[in-house]
Parts: sequence; structure tokens; C-alpha cells
Amino acid sequence: MSDPQNQDLIEVMASEYNMKAYEEAYATFDWKDVEKEFSWHETGRVNAAYEAIDRHVENGRGDDIALYYSDPARDERYTFAEMKALSNKFGNVLKKYGVQKGDRVFIFMPRSPELYAALLGAVKIGAIVGPLFEAFMEGAVKDRLADAAAVAIITTPKLKHRIPVQDLPELRHLFLVGAEGELGEREIDFQQEMSAASDSLDIEWVDREDGLVLHYTSGSTGKPKGVLHVHNAMIQHYQTAKWVLDLKRGDVYWCTADPGWVTGTAYGIWGPWLHGVTNVIRGGRFSPEDWYETLARYKVSVWYSAPTAFRMLMGAGGELVARYDLSALRHILSVGEPLNAEVVRWGLKVYGKRIHDNWWMTETGGQMISNYPSMPMKPGSMGKPFPGIYAAIVDDQGNELPPNTMGNLAIRAPWPAMMRRIWNNPTKYEEYFHLQPWYISGDSAYKDQDGYFWFQGRIDDVINTSGERVGPFEVESKLIEHPAIAEAGVIGKPDPLRGEIIKAFVALREGYQPTEELIQEIRDFVKQGLAAHAAPREIEFRDKLPKTRSGKIMRRVLKAWELGLPTGDLSTMED
Ligand code: WT7
Repeated sequence: MSDPQNQDLIEVMASEYNMKAYEEAYATFDWKDVEKEFSWHETGRVNAAYEAIDRHVENGRGDDIALYYSDPARDERYTFAEMKALSNKFGNVLKKYGVQKGDRVFIFMPRSPELYAALLGAVKIGAIVGPLFEAFMEGAVKDRLADAAAVAIITTPKLKHRIPVQDLPELRHLFLVGAEGELGEREIDFQQEMSAASDSLDIEWVDREDGLVLHYTSGSTGKPKGVLHVHNAMIQHYQTAKWVLDLKRGDVYWCTADPGWVTGTAYGIWGPWLHGVTNVIRGGRFSPEDWYETLARYKVSVWYSAPTAFRMLMGAGGELVARYDLSALRHILSVGEPLNAEVVRWGLKVYGKRIHDNWWMTETGGQMISNYPSMPMKPGSMGKPFPGIYAAIVDDQGNELPPNTMGNLAIRAPWPAMMRRIWNNPTKYEEYFHLQPWYISGDSAYKDQDGYFWFQGRIDDVINTSGERVGPFEVESKLIEHPAIAEAGVIGKPDPLRGEIIKAFVALREGYQPTEELIQEIRDFVKQGLAAHAAPREIEFRDKLPKTRSGKIMRRVLKAWELGLPTGDLSTMED
């Protein structure tokens, strides 16, 4: 099934590489052997933030640069010793306000050094961190904070208006970064507390199975799910950062993801810092000039981004690349949605490097299937399972399927970074594991005769727009809150730039006319109520939407309409 048009490219991608190193590692690897890389292997004292920051200071590397931070207004650098001191301070601040091990502490702000210090500080006292995208609006923020019963949040004066404190009785403290003027109820000046706090902290030693990070992610039905990861995940973050990111001491590494997304924690914090590598964080909006400038200025050697970004860079053209000195760049990676062979071809031409695709999910907590630096690559394929991971294509009964047959992409459970819980929803958690021994990903794929995995699509209706997972249900729920809307059905429509865009089919209430103004109003309504990236780019009006007898919107029928495909079995449709 692999695209014969890419045969030439496959040959280039295979010539200097061989499969041997991978095969040997795959045959002999044992996760247990990774444990000796951590100080808790000797001391028995576990905390991921200690391993990521303090350990390097204790090993005499306190003056190494941990973080280069820049945005249009700031340009700063922090050593590991400074990150240790700042995170210790914030740990003490949280303790002063009575925050305890296991409490949920959320972070809702744009990327900044304060965000990273606060996150590490919260982890150091054993709290579970919930990072939220700054793009979330009030409804989305409320759902997540309420579900997690968060006790504290670190935010900014600009964003705090999206936190409905009156509806969140358990939220005791709002730490405001950049607070000005009078503080409201429950509000605390972050900087003031930080300057007063001690920079030495009694770290909370935890169990490897204790909670670390809670990432909310969308499913096709219902509210977003709180996916809980535990400290034990560091084992996988460390080893994948070594073999997939190829991190070595002296590297300057840039992961472009926000910590509101699991890539931004697993590989924006833990992966690089567990290796003591310098981490580049760039705030502000995307622009091709700015991104290349960042790569050149910091002499980035390893760069981890997403297909949507690479496609936009491709749109900006190869001539632009030639204006920057990217000679430090050794390794490029991509995750989040299918990486088109076309983009790989372009990358090879303009960067002179392969872009290495890898596959994983919020729920898997770490990379699962990857293209490795030593491995021959088949552009368009996600690569092969990480050593210690058994991936398979199975049918709906859990039987493994032969090569080149499409089916459910499944992983044999467990693995070190696997989610341990869906917050408040054990039933949902069990659904992933109902076909033992498999974890069922919800993706469909096939494995070719050489063991390479090829992504085919989501099995559920989850939309992947510019690498962000959007649950159609959440968008539909918001749409029908609008006074003009009677019914709404939301699908992902294939899009060359964004992977998919959100398209809404809408039936209006009586008395409303389908006008351009109304379309704009509805779009703004979702933007304001949910998030800009969740607002439908296309809205189509229909008198009536296809529904099952039990009242569920039949999104697959909407999708078939959109794509001009046969609608399939309509036996469960009403009238
Ligand atoms: C979904 C997961 C990826 C880590 C960040 C969290 C899609 C992911 C790939 C890839 C094709 C991919 C899948 C997956 N996806 N990586 N390399 N090729 N599709 O991501 O928000 O939990 O989304 O993203 O559909 O299930 P997430």
C-alpha cells in the first residue's frame, strides 16, 4: 500500500542507514535497565523535577544553560542552578498557602520562564500539574478546573477574567504573574511571593506511581478527559529522548510545543532536562522569519515540531531558509498528525535533513512509534515501535491482522509512560483496555511487510486541526447554546494546510435567517466560549441533521455528504 511515487525518496532515505542498531536494541532492550540512570535508583527518593533540574546542579553542572527564553519583549537565559532556585521558591510559596501533595495546581498562561519555574515548583511539592493552553475561554477553563477540583492556578491579569471563580469554590488561590494594582479575592502577587520565598526547599519524595501531570484531551463524545500521568513516566521520557530525539550533552534543543499539549511537557520539559540539555523556549506567535531566526541564533541542534508548522514553513519557501545559518541543526522531528511525504521531500531539499515522524498520543504519555536517526526511512510512515513497545494492528476482537491490512492500531499494555487514570472517569479509562492485552488507540493504521506503520485516520470522530485534537461534541455543545441554533453537527474536513478544518452543519431555530453576519456571529460565539482553534472555519446551514433513533448526530453521514461519498448503512437513522 505504500505510495510507489515515493520509491526514489525511500531509496535516498535508506542509503546511509541500516536497520541493525534498531533491531539489536529491539531484541535486547529492557525498561528495567533505564532505572539506573536516575538518582532514585540509589537513594530511593523519587521526584521527576529533582531528576530534571537539581540532580544536574548536584553533579557540578549548575552553571550550564537550562533555558533560553525569548519573545518579542524578553530575551533571557537561566542556568540549571537558577531553575533550581526559582522552582524551589515557588514550591515554598505553594506550601505557604497550604497546597499539598496530590492537590491539583493549574497553569494558565503563555509560555514564559515563570511558567516553567511554577510547573517544576509544583511538581517538587508533589502537586499534580494541569497545564492549560492560553487560548481557552471561560467555558473550557471552567470545565477543566471543576473536573479536577483544582485548588490553585497560576495565571496572568489578562487571562484571569476567563476563570469563573464564583463557580469554582475549591479554587483557593490565583497566583498572578505580572500583578498590578489592587488584588481581588483569592488573588496573590506571584513576583512578590517569589522574592520573599526561600530558595531552599524540602522536596516532597513521592511514589513512582504518584500523579505528575494532568492533561485534558478531547474525545468524540462528552467533555474533555483528564489524562493522568505519573512520575514513573520519566523512564520513557529519558530513553525516548535519547534514542528518538537523539539528545546528547551539549545539544541545544527546541521543542515548539506549548506545555498545554502533552508534547510540551513530555518533550518540552522532561525529555531534554532529564538529559541536562539546553532547552529553547520561544514565546509569541508563529512566523517563519522568527522561527528560522530562533534556530540560527541559538544554534539549535535538535528541533521538534509539527506537520502543520512544517507545511507553513514550506509555504514560506526555500529561499527564506537560505538566509539563515542553520548549520548547527543535526536532527529534525515531527509529531501530531500525518507528516506528508511531500513535506519530507521538501525538508530534505531545503534543510538537507530528514524530518523524522513519530507517533504517540496524550494517553500514551510518550513516543511509541518512531523513525530513528540510524534507521532507513519510508517517507509517509510513522516508523517502527520503540524498543520495549509492542505495537500491532488488530481487528475489533483483538486478533492481530496480517501485514498490509488496515485495522486498529493497538499497543500491548502496560508501558512506563502509559496514562494511569482518566480523572473522575474509570469507565472511560477501561474502554481503552477492553480488548486485553491491548490498549486501543482509536487510530487506524496498517503495518507493512517490513514492519513500518502507516497512519490511516481516526476511528472515532475526533478532529485533528493543525495538530490539535478537538472533540466534535464540545464544539456542538457550544454551538447549540447560541440562540439561533437548534441542532449542530461538527466534522473534520480535510485541508491541505491544517490537516483538517472544523466544519459545522447547523439547523436554525424558527425566525432566524442564514446570513453572513450570523455565520460570523456563530464563529465568534465559539471563539469566545471555547477557544479560537475550536471555532468552525466553515458553517453550512441545513433544515435538518441526520440523527440516529437515539438522537445522536450521525457525523459519518455529514462527512460523506461533505466528501461526496456514499453514506453507508443508514439503518439506525431516524425516519
Ligand atoms: C492523535 C493524538 C502526538 C503527541 C501529542 C498528543 C494523531 C499523532 C501522529 C503521527 C499521524 C498522528 C493521531 C493520534 N497523531 N502523531 N505521527 N502521524 N497521526 O497528541 O493530541 O493526544 O493526539 O494525533 O490521531 O491518535 P494528541
